[in-house]
Amino acid sequence: MIIDWPALRAAAVTAAARAYAPYSGLRVGAAAQAAGGQIVTGCNVENASYGLTLCAECGLVSALHASGAAQPDAPARLLAVAVVAGDGEPLLPCGRCRQLLEEAGGGDLLVDTADGPVELRVLLPAAFSGTDLAQRREITRPE
Ligand code: THU
Repeated sequence: MIIDWPALRAAAVTAAARAYAPYSGLRVGAAAQAAGGQIVTGCNVENASYGLTLCAECGLVSALHASGAAQPDAPARLLAVAVVAGDGEPLLPCGRCRQLLEEAGGGDLLVDTADGPVELRVLLPAAFSGTDLAQRREITRPE
């Protein structure tokens, strides 16, 4: 599928303008294209209890599922994501959000950067995934 990067970046800029970021002053918007072609967006939402802040990518992943762009109980399949700050320029996802995006799109997910799109596996090498979980859970080393 062809990725319409200008449209994704524009949607991310629109989302950033809707951010609730009175504490940090850093607006963030994220927009992604799902495998079915749908565009989903998110913005950061801060809280007076700072640690409760929701990153833009967090809202995006929730919207991906809540909108029906992902199948219930199946891994989501995001193809491409653009994250921008209030200045409209790309912002690299934080570590936690790289992990969220890994679950939603895997290592093939294209992430926009100032130097152009890169695969998520470059930004999050040796990622922990549901495969690791499935292979290792309920296995206890014998004494
Ligand atoms: N933020 C995001 O929304 N996404 C990121 O990947 C990095 C940080 C937000 C969280 C907080 O509202 C503000 O940026 C400053 O950390």
